[in-house]
Amino acid sequence: MRLILEVWRQADAATPGRFERYEVDGVTAEVSMLELLDMLNAQLVEEGREPVAFDHDCREGICGTCGIMVNGQPHGPEDHTPACLQRVRAFSDGDVVTLEPWRAGAFPVLRDLVTDRSGLDRIIASGGYISTATNAAPEALSLPINKHQAEAAMDHAACIGCGACVAACPNGAAQLFAGAKVAHLAELPQGQVERYERVRSMVATMESEFGSCTNYGECVPACPAAIGLDVIAHLNRDFRKAVVSERRGEVPERTDVRWLARLRGEAWWQSDPDDTPGDTPKRT
Ligand code: SF4
Ligand code: FES
Repeated sequence: MRLILEVWRQADAATPGRFERYEVDGVTAEVSMLELLDMLNAQLVEEGREPVAFDHDCREGICGTCGIMVNGQPHGPEDHTPACLQRVRAFSDGDVVTLEPWRAGAFPVLRDLVTDRSGLDRIIASGGYISTATNAAPEALSLPINKHQAEAAMDHAACIGCGACVAACPNGAAQLFAGAKVAHLAELPQGQVERYERVRSMVATMESEFGSCTNYGECVPACPAAIGLDVIAHLNRDFRKAVVSERRGEVPERTDVRWLARLRGEAWWQSDPDDTPGDTPKRT
């Protein structure tokens, strides 16, 4: 199969970019979008021309490094599939395929198809972590987590941080990404210590760099991890609770003070000065 590629070429962030047209012959159905770029680059190098810069790493859908717009769709025509796992079988001989970098104000183009996605890292750095007492490894069964919560946390943790949700969103919003990170940690006892500080801080960073979510829902089919809109509801719920509690001068209720105490190596009632032995732990 012969494909005609319209590829975005841009020397650096300060130089205007343009589309260049190339032809790649001998493409078979099982070739991935990244392998198609490898074939193109081999051809360009042989002709003594500059190869196309693009991001890639694991090439098996786990690292979130790849990310290109294919015919205007983040990653490519197949839903919930990163560019490295998208095959060209969706195209026919002679088709024109347009390859562009992520299109979002928060992701400036660095070169050709490579964008700066460090805005996502800054959201994580502002709260996407947990505090833990470092010591000997705890007894595995000392922190029971029910199956429903464990599975929900795993589902949210599947976000690979690729940024396709931002590229797909007409507002350039990062709510699906931030929601997945917040919901992942909020499901687990280890995530309770900074739960409300985390959401306030991550939302502040997100809003300073990305657009606002108005529920278009374009992010969901673009997401290779099939993260659902429910994480945005989770993000909004925790954020609202954090802000209202702060305005009232209250500490938001924590999920279970016994879990917090175990994490800190304290008797559980020491986790909250208002709690005394024998009280029923507060639950959200
Ligand atoms: S939520 Fe989905 S699309 Fe957005 S960064 Fe995570 S994996 Fe990528
Ligand atoms: S290269 Fe790692 S997810 Fe695509």
